[in-house]
Amino acid sequence: MRALLLCGLALAGCTAAPPPPAGGPTGQALYRSFDPQVDALLAQMTLAEKIGQMTQADQEFLTDEAHIRTYALGSILNGGGSDPVTNSREDWTAMVQRYQDLASQTRLGIPLLYGVDAVHGHANVVGAVVFPHNIGLGATRNPDLVQEIAHVTAREVRATGINWTFAPSVAVPRDDRWGRTYEGFAEDPALVASLGEAAVRGYQGDDPGAPDRVVACAKHFAADGGTTLGTGITLDGVDYPFDRGDARISEAELREVHMQGYVTAIAAGVATIMPSYSSWNGVKASASRRMLTEIIKEELGFEGFLISDFAAIDEIPGDYRSDIETSINAGMDMVMVPARYELFVRTLTELVEDGSIPMSRIDDAVRRILRVKFAAGLFEPDWSAEPLHVAAFGSEAHRAVARQAVRESVVLLHNRDGRLPLAASLGRIHVVGAAADDIGIQSGGWTIEWQGATGAITEGTTILAGIREAAGPGTEVTHSADGSGAEGADVIVAVVGERPYAEMFGDDLALRLPEEDAAVIATASGAGVPVVTVLLSGRPLVVPEVFEASDAVLAAWLPGSEGGGVADVLFGTFAPTGRLPFTWPRTVAQQPLNLGDADYDPLFPYGFGLGY
Ligand code: BGC
Ligand code: BGC
Repeated sequence: MRALLLCGLALAGCTAAPPPPAGGPTGQALYRSFDPQVDALLAQMTLAEKIGQMTQADQEFLTDEAHIRTYALGSILNGGGSDPVTNSREDWTAMVQRYQDLASQTRLGIPLLYGVDAVHGHANVVGAVVFPHNIGLGATRNPDLVQEIAHVTAREVRATGINWTFAPSVAVPRDDRWGRTYEGFAEDPALVASLGEAAVRGYQGDDPGAPDRVVACAKHFAADGGTTLGTGITLDGVDYPFDRGDARISEAELREVHMQGYVTAIAAGVATIMPSYSSWNGVKASASRRMLTEIIKEELGFEGFLISDFAAIDEIPGDYRSDIETSINAGMDMVMVPARYELFVRTLTELVEDGSIPMSRIDDAVRRILRVKFAAGLFEPDWSAEPLHVAAFGSEAHRAVARQAVRESVVLLHNRDGRLPLAASLGRIHVVGAAADDIGIQSGGWTIEWQGATGAITEGTTILAGIREAAGPGTEVTHSADGSGAEGADVIVAVVGERPYAEMFGDDLALRLPEEDAAVIATASGAGVPVVTVLLSGRPLVVPEVFEASDAVLAAWLPGSEGGGVADVLFGTFAPTGRLPFTWPRTVAQQPLNLGDADYDPLFPYGFGLGY
């Protein structure tokens, strides 16, 4: 059917290929199956049109929206915090439609692949359901649930007219001091491989062009979670210890630890892969022909395309011209420029014209991009499924899936004398900590803003609100942000943890509570009332004072918008089943500490989790 519809477009010389048979190609074979249509289109394209397809700009850096038409750009993204003015679903949809209209006015009218970081729900958009970050999903050990979450997310993304998410991360974070630890499902490659595959299936299904699916992106290839302490990026004079650093590891370790998620994602048919900002033994992934062409494409049989990370090629040693030459020749297919797209287009054109980049490499890149566009259904006139999903966006049904994910992600670490679950008959529960009543803190980075933000940044239920809903009719629920006022209460629920961060800004050598929250614990524990602590964090923290002060401790990770799921566990309507996806160390000096290490002596081992 797709071939017939393509021929309905004004494409000269289009030959109808037979429609893919029902029960037809899946996995990577799907992309190759579009080669007849792709080749017919490629044969008509000028060099400028091909280079346009390889160029992705961030919409916030378009100096003129009409440049989408002028340069026949192949793709647009919204980076973290790159939003339309009101950040409503309606504004997102209108923005995307405006850009697609410009793409349709080009000579060949090739639609845009439109990318966004829907990494824990479509969480850039106000009102979308925000799921737990991957670390919490790792604690669920539930691939069916991860698949369903990705499917729900795909529907919410389609509700804004967008067709591509830069997810899942299949990083295997090995040192929890890395700021992106929460983006990974687990320290164990096998769990990452299983949940990463489930996520790809949920986003794409067997047919990424179906109206309820989007194109997925496995990232960041590879060993982004294996960088060596002290090798990270220096930005504005600040040295970050891990992020964008160098993984100084053998090829055997690269394969056994860091590549497993790509093997399963590719088998599940992932359409795009994002090479990492980081390096492997001193060579940037974006510059590595070994990684991009020999391993991903030739060895693993990947037939989709590679999208660079955000200005990542700019970090390759040398000037911009040599960055482009090195990366494209290494096998990069599309570049997330994201700002200086005019310079990129001009320079890439010169590099092809002077023979520095062979035309065969350009054709290979564009063939791969077009395959994915066909597979995503973009050439079908009714590709936009937005109206189908408007009512489901942020709906109660979607929130129920997120709440299930939250309750399955919570790990009970400590429970002296069966303090939890809380009885329904308590006279007063005193909830303490600013984080108890803050959607932004419980959602973490990549929520509305790139770095996330504190406060009522989107819709949802805070943990405090969840406790109020769940408490029995005779129970009074009080709250203080600073920990005071507990005297006379039956129990204190302290909600403390990290403040939102993303990427290098989360690199942290101490892994302590913020001072404000350490003070909350100190104040609350002086009241002579039993303390139950809920920890919100993107990784295990080193907080002996919390374990000393608390009768029970729950690790709730970064649960997202549905705080009711935490209350479900506190009150025992759901007995905890979550299990640690990361080893919980005694001291920060033990990092990196992972399952299978010699001298493994953690506070709580990988897989630990109590029940009631
Ligand atoms: C991140 C990616 C992300 C991209 C687009 C980069 O900084 O490393 O994970 O997909 O930005 O926002
Ligand atoms: C963008 C993010 C991106 C980051 C990378 C930010 O300005 O909004 O999407 O991940 O830069 O440095």
